[in-house]
Amino acid sequence: SNDPLVVFTPSGKRGRFPEGTPVLTAARQLGVDLDSVCGGRGICSRCQITPSYGEFPKHGVTVEPGALTDWNAVEERYKSKRGLKEGRRLGCQACVMGDVVIDVPPESQVHRQVVRKRAEARQITMSPAVKLFYVAVAEPDMHDPSGDLQRLRDALAEQWQIKDVQIDLTVLQGLQPKLRKGGWQVTCAVHLGPQPRIIEVWPGFREAPIFGLAVDLGSTTIAAHLCDLQSGEVVASSGLMNPQIRFGEDLMSRVSYSMMNAGGAAEMTAAVREGMNDLFGQVCAEAGITRDDILDMVLVCNPVMHHLFLGIDPFELGQAPFALATSDALNLTAREVGLDLHPSARLYLLPCIAGHVGADAAAVALSEAPDKSPDLLLVVDVGTNAEILLGNTEKVLACSSPTGPAFEGAQISSGQRAAPGAIERVEIDPVTKEPRFKVIGSDLWSDDPGFAAEAGKTGITGICGSGIIEMVAEMRLAGIVDASGLIGAPEQTGSARCILDGRTYSYLVWDATDTGGPRITVTNRDIREIQMAKAALYSGARLLMDKFGVDKVDRIVLAGAFGAHISPKHAMVLGMIPDAPLDKVTSAGNAAGTGARIALLNREARDLIEATVRGIHKVETAIEPRFQEHFVNASAIPNAVEPFPILNS
Ligand code: FES
Repeated sequence: SNDPLVVFTPSGKRGRFPEGTPVLTAARQLGVDLDSVCGGRGICSRCQITPSYGEFPKHGVTVEPGALTDWNAVEERYKSKRGLKEGRRLGCQACVMGDVVIDVPPESQVHRQVVRKRAEARQITMSPAVKLFYVAVAEPDMHDPSGDLQRLRDALAEQWQIKDVQIDLTVLQGLQPKLRKGGWQVTCAVHLGPQPRIIEVWPGFREAPIFGLAVDLGSTTIAAHLCDLQSGEVVASSGLMNPQIRFGEDLMSRVSYSMMNAGGAAEMTAAVREGMNDLFGQVCAEAGITRDDILDMVLVCNPVMHHLFLGIDPFELGQAPFALATSDALNLTAREVGLDLHPSARLYLLPCIAGHVGADAAAVALSEAPDKSPDLLLVVDVGTNAEILLGNTEKVLACSSPTGPAFEGAQISSGQRAAPGAIERVEIDPVTKEPRFKVIGSDLWSDDPGFAAEAGKTGITGICGSGIIEMVAEMRLAGIVDASGLIGAPEQTGSARCILDGRTYSYLVWDATDTGGPRITVTNRDIREIQMAKAALYSGARLLMDKFGVDKVDRIVLAGAFGAHISPKHAMVLGMIPDAPLDKVTSAGNAAGTGARIALLNREARDLIEATVRGIHKVETAIEPRFQEHFVNASAIPNAVEPFPILNS
């Protein structure tokens, strides 16, 4: 035909269209990803494109001036009121008049990619569950008895192909004045679940962005990331200690609290919800938005946290066979679980894998995708309760292991949370046995000139989780600790820093008591705590390897709130993880949090993880005799019966 040829970049999609076809229409017909929130009314500017002029041998076209129509009144008005970048046009207004090459910039793509922090990680494709749609609704008419909602539904079906949409009662209650105030043009927030639902309506076009929360509810800490649901950007992040800690440090002590105290579970439910509401207040303040701007939320957590958060007594999780109330993913509203967000905000909980392997493990699986890995991948999510996944494209196994809070700095004499002043990096000279270290909040090492003055500012307050791992591993490498985990006497180690402390020795790291400062030591009890924790972690991984029928893995990913800070070398010296080439061990940061963010920004990922979780084989460590066996063998540093040939080579 003689119709003008339209070539879109970067997709390369092309087709011929009659003169006068709006660029947005052409894009739609070719399946080019070009955004529009206002439905082509020249209001939202999401449809911006950049036409190119001149010769394009690659595309076989020459683009003449006048290939697009001149600026019309709508486009002019937009430009004068709001401004448009040089060379940009509104795709819904500019029409094709001749052969043309049209570039769709990333910010105009609906399914734009949100780049994740790590370079090697997959990207997140924007496809949020809650989206805004601007519609023009037919006015009521004496001769047509339909209600305002029916006409709004018709408009959504016709203008956005959203069929059979339902509405929340609270939204219906305010619908009529909003339609009239907006002059029969409104912006709807629609939850695109299995049954689409209008969860808010604003008169006219809503300029302001809407937000969602990705929340990782851990036994020790709660972390929340506030994301812009249109750009996918994380606009604020904040964390809080889980207020349930006052009922028990670890999961099992909280389960027993609920068994021993009438109303104990309800108390813990109230505490965690209150804590979350405080945390949400913090992120809103940080981002300068209100709670009402938050329309969606994804929560990941372990099974005990899951049940307590939902108001379900975790009693059954405390005893074999560890039955969950439900392992399904849940679609709820934030309000019905006492969360103070927008009154219609949605809440999605990822599915649980098994009684001890929760939605947090599912989120890790979503983020690290062992099921998509051609080589055998071991993912270890280090926390109070470690989630461990082992698998490849063939199958994936999962278990959890009760590591206890030692890796988070708890139950360690000088342990503390990762915060300014905490020792996070450690080196011990193998000859002099002298330590040098770095604290969070300072770039200097402890033996750098000026450190004392720096440290005077932040103070040295303790040792955090990644610090204690490096500390114990370095003590082992320097010969201060033997393979059984015993700190030697000064005459054995050659270090005056080994000080008798009761019946065992402690290693003195820092002593500033003469100037009123702290005294930081590593006691033999601290070493024991770390040995127990790492043995639990290692045995879980070994158990999965047994079940898989392998004695080595190809790759290891360390995840967890502080996973990004763990040095792979030190983790391996300690025997936290199986032997593997060091360059095959990477850190993933908070993979559960990342999984939550993926599910928040991409609704298809929710279906995907639900299907993946159904295929994961669960292994229950608590009833596996081999787990105990591995555990006993794994307490030595590194393990007694498991040589680490690669590490030692
Ligand atoms: Fe909204 Fe073009 S589609 S301005």
